Order: sequence, then structure tokens, then C-alpha cells
Amino acid sequence: MKHRRPKVFVTREIAAEALAELRRTARVEVWPHPLPPPYAELRRRLREADGALTMVTDRIDAALIAASPCLRVVSNLAVGVDNIDLEAATRAGVAVGHTPGVLTEATADLAFALMLAAARRVAFGDRQVRAGKWKTWGPRVLLGPEVFGATLGIVGWGAIGRAVARRALGFRMRVLYVTRSQSSRAHRAKTDASAVRVTMNRLLAESDFVSLHVPLTPITHHLIGAAEFRRMKRGAILVNTARGGVIDQHALAVALKSGNLGGAALDVTDPEPIDRSDPLLQLDTVVITPHIGSASYTTRQKMAALAVKNLLAVFAGKKPPLCANPAVRLRPR
Ligand code: DGY
Repeated sequence: MKHRRPKVFVTREIAAEALAELRRTARVEVWPHPLPPPYAELRRRLREADGALTMVTDRIDAALIAASPCLRVVSNLAVGVDNIDLEAATRAGVAVGHTPGVLTEATADLAFALMLAAARRVAFGDRQVRAGKWKTWGPRVLLGPEVFGATLGIVGWGAIGRAVARRALGFRMRVLYVTRSQSSRAHRAKTDASAVRVTMNRLLAESDFVSLHVPLTPITHHLIGAAEFRRMKRGAILVNTARGGVIDQHALAVALKSGNLGGAALDVTDPEPIDRSDPLLQLDTVVITPHIGSASYTTRQKMAALAVKNLLAVFAGKKPPLCANPAVRLRPR
């Protein structure tokens, strides 16, 4: 029997080469707008789709999966899959693909850039200059802590956390880390023997900079809240390139206003974009970028190519090579 070509909905314009590759096998519909499809529209488009190529901004929940009877694969253009109900997908036989690995270095670059920006007041200084508020060089103007030689605490010792640690070596930083993984000896060997695994309490108490590299799960939701801010070293700077929900943002604003926390550099917030009335936007000690951790030309091309590879594997009857729910038993055609 001749199979019909699978139908795929792509929720945003992606790299042209990757789309061309997908079109060789599938009938492809691309959402042409810069803003994500609203939930109701996504649900309508997936009703007859065999596959979806989605972004972190698309909520793929149990109701949507139940309303998509032909869906066999959701391929997320991201390493994080917190926008997808993995359990519902697995129960329904829908494979979930994602793109770890290729965005490690770009995201680590941004974490480091944010750490430097917050410490050395790059964004604030730029705002001062543009607003005509900077009047002269001065011995006490725009001072900040030194990054070189400071202690960096890395929360989450996955590929991105370790890539940040590698960068820190060039700055002669002392690196502490926490991980839930059992195999940290192997991880440490790949980076530098001088990185020290510690408890969360010790990391918070001793680090001048704390950088977050954990996925958002029910366990890591608000992992850093009022109690953690109280344990941090006075004047420390918090960097988040993971997910906004890992930090209790209300507690963050309180810690910054009290002066206990020296600064925060956030590529991710909860919600995104951050609410215009959020007190964090009023604080000069905060740097916020618009979720651009993986936003380099080459990384986004590689992510698109991987996302397409994950889709095509399922259309060939296999699990995605990078599968976020490997226990899935694929839904038959
Ligand atoms: C990811 O990959 O999870 C990022 O947040 C999107 O680039």
C-alpha cells in the first residue's frame, strides 16, 4: 500500500536548508508570522498533522495531544522541553525530539557575557551614556566586582554548565558546582580537575557569581528563592540562562532591593516577555536579554537541521536520534 506523505506544521520560519530537507519527505506548512501561533490556532493546525516542529513558546499540553489523533512526533527546536507534556506525549505514543549539544557553546558564551555585563555594569553604563547622564570619568563612577579570579558557582553540571566552567578557567576563577548526577567524576575530568563539587549551601555561601544550568521541572521550579538568597554571599551576582521559573522572581527583586544580592543577569524570565510592571525592570543592577542563549547564526542552523532529522526519523519508523521521551512506543500510522 502506498503511504501518503506525512504532514508537518512548523510553528515559525526556520533555516531554509532545513526546511528544504523536510519538504523532500513531508508536506510542510509554516506559520509565517513573527509571533507564535495562538494556542487555539496551534490546536487547529495539529488536528490532521503527523508531525510538529515547535518552539519553546508553543504549549503542547495533554489536551492538545489528545486533540491531534495523527500526531506521531513533536520536534522541539530547543534542548528544553518544559513546554511539552512529556508524560501525555509518551502515553499517546508521540515521540518528542529536542536539540541538545549543538547549542552548548553559544549558551555558555551568553552566560559568560551576562556575568561580565552585570559585574562591570555594561548595560547600565550604555543606558547612562545614551540618556546623556554620564558626565565624566570618575574614580568612583560605575564600579563593580572583578570577574577575574572570583569564585563561580555553577548549579547544574550538564554540558552547558561545564562549558561555562571551561570559560571560567581563562579568567582564573575558582569553580564550584552542584549536580544531582552520580557520575560527576567523569564530568569533572572532561572539564578541569580543579572544579569542586559542593553542597548547594556551600556553593551559595562562597560564590561571587552563581550561574544556573538546570532544566525546568517540578523539582527545579523556584529552586532559587528567598531562603537561597539569604544564604548567598553579600553582593553576589546571579546569572540565569536556563528557564525563568527556576528563580522566584518576587524573592529576587526583594534580595536586590535589600542590597544583599549585588546584581542579576537574566536571559530568561517568567513570564516571557517579562511583565512591563515587574519591579526588576526598575533596578539598575539587573541586566535582561530576550532569551537569546542559542541565538547565533550557526547554532540556530544546526538546531533546525537536528529538529528536522528528529522528525524524519519518526517518519522512517524510528525514534528521534535525540529523543526526550525514549520510553515512548511510537503510535502506528
Ligand atoms: C533551549 O534550547 O532550551 C533554549 O532555551 C532555546 O534556545
